[in-house]
Amino acid sequence: AEQLPAASLKLGFNAVPKDLADRLVVADGYTATVIYATGDSIDPAVTDYANNGTDASFARRAGDHHDAIEYFGMNAAGTARDPLNADRALLAMNHENIAGTVVFMHANGQTNPAGVRPEAEAIKELEAHGVSIVEIQKAGGRFAVNKNSAFNRRVTARTTMEINGPVRGDVLARTLFSPTGTQTRGTINNCAAGQTPWGTYLTCEENWAGYFRRAASDTGRTAKETTAFRRVGLLPGANGNNRWFTVVPADPTSTEFSRWDVTATGADETTDFRNAHNTFGWAVEIDPFAPASVPRKRTALGRFAHEGASCSVPVAGKPLAFYMGDDSRGEYVYKFVSQSAWDPADVAGGLAAGDKYLDTGTLYAARFNADGTGTWLKLDMSNAAITGYAPYAFANLADVLVNARIAADAAGATKMDRPEWAAVNPRNGEVYVTMTENPDRGNVGSSSNNNPNPPLDAANPRYWLDKKGAANQKGNVNGHIVRLRETGNDPSSSTFDWDIFLFGAQAHADAGIDDVNWQANVNLSGLSDFNDLSKPDGCWFSRATGILWIETDDNTYTDVTNCMLLAAIPGQYGDGATVTVVNKPDGSPNAAVVANVDVTTRMGRKMSDTTFKRFLTAPKGAEVTGVTESPDGRALFVNIQHPGENTAVANIGTPALYESHWPGNGAGVAAYGPGGANARPRSSTIMITRNDGGLIGT
Ligand code: FEO
Ligand code: CA
Ligand code: CA
Ligand code: CA
Repeated sequence: AEQLPAASLKLGFNAVPKDLADRLVVADGYTATVIYATGDSIDPAVTDYANNGTDASFARRAGDHHDAIEYFGMNAAGTARDPLNADRALLAMNHENIAGTVVFMHANGQTNPAGVRPEAEAIKELEAHGVSIVEIQKAGGRFAVNKNSAFNRRVTARTTMEINGPVRGDVLARTLFSPTGTQTRGTINNCAAGQTPWGTYLTCEENWAGYFRRAASDTGRTAKETTAFRRVGLLPGANGNNRWFTVVPADPTSTEFSRWDVTATGADETTDFRNAHNTFGWAVEIDPFAPASVPRKRTALGRFAHEGASCSVPVAGKPLAFYMGDDSRGEYVYKFVSQSAWDPADVAGGLAAGDKYLDTGTLYAARFNADGTGTWLKLDMSNAAITGYAPYAFANLADVLVNARIAADAAGATKMDRPEWAAVNPRNGEVYVTMTENPDRGNVGSSSNNNPNPPLDAANPRYWLDKKGAANQKGNVNGHIVRLRETGNDPSSSTFDWDIFLFGAQAHADAGIDDVNWQANVNLSGLSDFNDLSKPDGCWFSRATGILWIETDDNTYTDVTNCMLLAAIPGQYGDGATVTVVNKPDGSPNAAVVANVDVTTRMGRKMSDTTFKRFLTAPKGAEVTGVTESPDGRALFVNIQHPGENTAVANIGTPALYESHWPGNGAGVAAYGPGGANARPRSSTIMITRNDGGLIGT
């Protein structure tokens, strides 16, 4: 890949305005083309998508809610890995969810959504989750999916998986499906991801807890089990998304649906699914080049609401680090450090290399100190803070990893504002982690997801923010991005320095709630109409250009603009100043709210209209999720997730009332799929190319 010196990096496009229309808008001089949308067939034996709710066979179609995406170059012959090939590749991507858009998956929405669900609908929904691997080839400057490729594969919520690492075989992983605790079925709510230096895909399970049912009567658990359940929010009375547990299968011996019920009903954990939830919440490794291989859940990386797993810059002879966020209010930033040192001979090592680097190593959680230093806290049985933790007695390393959040509590990690993606700057190894939002930050005395809301601290310093007329909007509603530099640039270091790269903000304060001084304080990064954003989520570095791409998953600023993709010149740690964040007193003397105090923090340089620009805006109701590129930097792939997700099921028969008709409506892209202006909306992968064939964003 072309490697530009960072100093020469310029954002050579005009910023895209904020937009509220049901269309995709990309910077002038660029073209966006849909190449892979929900329901697309990946098999010549499976019909084209009718997009009217009648299509089945989702195990051989694109899933829903396209999320993280990675590019795996393959050779011109289409037989093996070739990471630098910019003309032929496998794309691996996540299909996170069906929430909202399940309205469009069936002819008239879900049948019996509050009762016993029909088996065929439940199978369709299970198979719309998971991962796609599809081959793409470039012709005439444009990529298209090769429907005939033998590498095309869907991994779904029904696919058999191995449980690898320290939890394999542990009592906590034993179920009726796998009494030895060595296997489970499916991956679910796959959000962010990562690519390993040995050419595999790491897909990460985020909000898995919401899919499980737990009967109100399931109260006979041990105190220890009860603590563990509370920490992931799986309380008695939980019904589970989509109520899959209610399905009465045609095959009475099938446990395909009963496995979504963790209620203890049998004699022990090998006779029911009381432990099924423990087999989710992991980083899962898939080898895109081995279509018959069984994915492996890498338990050494810990169990939480996993966002991505972003690898450090590999250095021969040194361990590898993987940086990971846990996306829930007040949760932590983690890293896993491999025991094995990187050997470049493993570059095409597949899952065997995964066994070597990901099954043995050390998990850490981050503590961010007020002075801009930080500590990686070891999460294993050698840490006396964990073995001596009174509220929960850890049995062994497997227990620590399954209950990583409790272990990080014990170790004293810093509760963060919903850590989403992590990205490693390939030029200097610095790590960026998005804190997407936390409206409960500083709401001390209450809890979010059974987790006490923490006070402000230097790494999460914002309490009040601007939102027109919404006096109840407190906490960090616009998000920020934290930047870490490992001590000595060593990814296995136990200490680091940090600052805040970016504070999300609305460029203009809303009248009636802000005064001039406070507004200046809210917009700490100096954002303008060219780059203001709320709720940064995905972040990813281009190796070809060095651009840091930032995506939003917003529901606060959406009265002003749809979600967006922005390009940033990253700078480097320490390029800013120490600032005091003035947290405006709310005037309501709630004694429980003690956190609206001023907090001093360290921040990166202010953004300018030349160092930070909006590149793309999404259709209505959509989030901008995954981003990756061909290694020559001349094709950018972006995932658009859940356009039209706010459509009410009652309106399924009235296309005029759909929130979105994209991409069928051809708004900002060539019209894609059947239905035209009346089309049901579809999550989509778009390819962006520059009309002059140049590097994207420069
Ligand atoms: Fe699925 Fe945290 O985003
Ligand atoms: Ca999402
Ligand atoms: Ca996300
Ligand atoms: Ca998000």
